[in-house]
Amino acid sequence: MRFRSNLTRREFLKLGGIATVGLVTNISPWKVIASPLPPWETRQKMAADPLRPLYHFLPPSNWMNDPNGVIQWEGQYHLFYQYNPDDPVWGNTHWGHAVSDDLVHWRDLPIALGPTPGGPDQNGCWSGSAVNDNGTPTILYTGAIYTVPIERYTGGPDARQVICLATGNDNLVTWQKYAHNPVVKPPIGLVEEGFRDPYVWRENDQWYMVIASGIIGQGAAVLLYRSLDLREWKYLGPLFTGDAGKYGMMFECPSFFTLGNKHVLVVGARGKPRYFVGTYSDHKFTPETTGVLDAGIYYSPQVIVDEQGRRILFGWVWEGGWTWLQRNNDALKVPGWAGVSPLPRILSLAPDNTLLSRPVPELSVLRAEHVHLSDR
Ligand code: FRU
Repeated sequence: MRFRSNLTRREFLKLGGIATVGLVTNISPWKVIASPLPPWETRQKMAADPLRPLYHFLPPSNWMNDPNGVIQWEGQYHLFYQYNPDDPVWGNTHWGHAVSDDLVHWRDLPIALGPTPGGPDQNGCWSGSAVNDNGTPTILYTGAIYTVPIERYTGGPDARQVICLATGNDNLVTWQKYAHNPVVKPPIGLVEEGFRDPYVWRENDQWYMVIASGIIGQGAAVLLYRSLDLREWKYLGPLFTGDAGKYGMMFECPSFFTLGNKHVLVVGARGKPRYFVGTYSDHKFTPETTGVLDAGIYYSPQVIVDEQGRRILFGWVWEGGWTWLQRNNDALKVPGWAGVSPLPRILSLAPDNTLLSRPVPELSVLRAEHVHLSDR
């Protein structure tokens, strides 16, 4: 993620006094998957912090960023998320996991994925998405390996990024990584900066996947792939390439879906959740309208289609960089948590094909007595 001018999120985090040195030697072994949850007492202790949100989801403690693999499975909503189990700062990226019946009340589940020493995800299980493969929950995610020592790591190109697969048991609690990971590597000579955040969907009897990237000499891009079995993928070319002047050299966190008779591409672009509404044919997307989904401190959009057919937007609210609101990485060690899930929102199209969002109606259960103020 790039912030103002050409600073990446990771550069930015380091400026904030990050103590990332050592994370590389602190990679959690695979056994972390079976490790117990941070105890309930952690949540209780954290709850004493007056700055901690009360009804937005956030992990029991420590760092969260992107929502990952959000899926409705047998009625329940599963939210996975980028999680550092060791610290309230970015790094050692695992997939945290929570489940909800109503998108309002969430229950913690054990960590779903963690880096495998020596594996293609040895330095982090970065963002991705989940699908139902004929009854088998299946995750496509980004495996990261740093190509420079962590203390010199400044963002995308300094980590080799590949696409990995894992399958879950029926209730999505334990996950098994595919023995032949990675399932996709970046096309040689094409990619400028990064290759990550796979988003998968089914169309007729085939799987399609978009991957966030950027094309050398052109600009930020979303690359399109097709597969019959989620394991063997064919590259179909860029679904969409953005103007480098406007969007830089790297998109992040793409989602691609239909809404009415339009196709919608949602991406992270220069630190903002941006949408494009348009048409899709011959494996190319042509935008007609574009806009920002939330102009606040909001990033890493992920859109799912739930069992009611609603297009629901999830995201990440981060420590507001460059403002007085921001707590730097040293400051975050004190409260011991960072990052919040914004309220889930339903997306719809306005008559002029701009994208609208409103919080899911389920949230009204949080309302209590109606307070009416007059004479103001
Ligand atoms: C967006 C992002 C993703 C990446 C993940 C790593 O915030 O940079 O592109 O997969 O975070 O935590």
